[in-house]
Amino acid sequence: MQLNNNIILPKGWRAFTTEKLAIRGARMIDPSIGLDLQADLIIQDGTIKHIGEIPDGWDGENVDAKGLIACPGLFDMHVHLREPGYEHKETIQTGCIAAAVGGFTGVAPMPNTNPALDNPGLINFVRERALGFPVDVHPIAAVTVGRRGQSLTEIGELFDDGVTTFSDDGSPVASAELMRRALEYTRMFDVVISEHCEEPSLTAKGVMHEGAVSTRLGLPGWPSIGEEIAIERNIRLAEFTGGRIHIAHISTAGSVEIVRQAKARGVNVTAEVTPHHLTLDCTILEGFNSDYKVNPPLRTLDDIEALIEGLTDGTIDAIATDHAPHAPDEKEVEFINTPFGMIGLETALGVIHTRLVLAGKLSLQRMIEVMTSAPRRIMHLPAAEIKVNSPVNITLFNPDEKWMVDRELMYSKGKNTPYHGWELTGRPCGIINRGVAWIRKG
Ligand code: DOR
Repeated sequence: MQLNNNIILPKGWRAFTTEKLAIRGARMIDPSIGLDLQADLIIQDGTIKHIGEIPDGWDGENVDAKGLIACPGLFDMHVHLREPGYEHKETIQTGCIAAAVGGFTGVAPMPNTNPALDNPGLINFVRERALGFPVDVHPIAAVTVGRRGQSLTEIGELFDDGVTTFSDDGSPVASAELMRRALEYTRMFDVVISEHCEEPSLTAKGVMHEGAVSTRLGLPGWPSIGEEIAIERNIRLAEFTGGRIHIAHISTAGSVEIVRQAKARGVNVTAEVTPHHLTLDCTILEGFNSDYKVNPPLRTLDDIEALIEGLTDGTIDAIATDHAPHAPDEKEVEFINTPFGMIGLETALGVIHTRLVLAGKLSLQRMIEVMTSAPRRIMHLPAAEIKVNSPVNITLFNPDEKWMVDRELMYSKGKNTPYHGWELTGRPCGIINRGVAWIRKG
């Protein structure tokens, strides 16, 4: 295993190979296998060799991890890395560095690039751009050619090429007939469709949640029902076809209830929620700050409560950031004309840990589960387990470290974070994956 010297590390980080590396004294938590133990961990040739005490005569590299938590590598099943086509917003390289700094060892970029990721050539282009980083990049392929909603992509060929998830995210598959065919086709390979659930005829002009605040601000509303009708339709189609549907960025209390009932009757449905939908409500838009403009929009405090309940009781399976970088000049125009989206990779863990775990609303174990094993399971990717003889795929974070979010210090090209100036408690400090450890000093 060789370190790739062409990759510039984030400032203040060090790289190690995993030929002979000890992680000393971390609290290791892997809810998927019931592990919660403070111990040393020995890695040799990229594999976890020993969990316990460091043997006498150890002569490998050491990382002092006392006070840190080691968990399976975080995985984000919903990011936008913008390449090819929108490299002024983000590149796979800047996105991978932002992911690593945020503690993610894996990400799944959406295909709303230009051209859209709708064939194996483009999927492999994205994979190749990510080589050398300690971050697994699993591109999601488009459901329809060019994301135009007219005809299906070659789902079988993409599956043969290793694609496990399909989406036209950014837009829904608006035609129910096409979604039916897509579910029938994907079912043959047991792959999942991650759907952006939006009924366009109800949301066409909407720029924020429809309600008292949008009325007061005079902004066109994007109503909850615009999401709920689409979720209802897609669940009925999944039930009818036996296909597998994943609800991307679920945002309303009604949606949570629809998914809860569908799961209870055995439909093959899963759902993800973003950190911003769990922590920010639509009143924050009173200042017309375009960093808070996102699709689906920020909802109400009641919706937030229902989303947290759904995450706790298992209705919602995963947290995903929907990291959506845009260039500063694109966000600095009239609110109505700015693109939807916020960045999220570098703040996700700190935000969830501070606002949900430390606030007593979500257990630490559940946070880890929904950010690590759950998204990999939904996408049918290999598990990242902390056990002897497994390939090492680990995130280290300091649950006590306080830090201030500063958009100017972010590695993403997008500076459109809704958390600028927030003080968070809990910060990633290393990832170990693909034969490399990136560790933040201090
Ligand atoms: O806010 C969003 N931004 N929602 C989406 O569905 C797409 C994304 C983007 O690509 O910018």
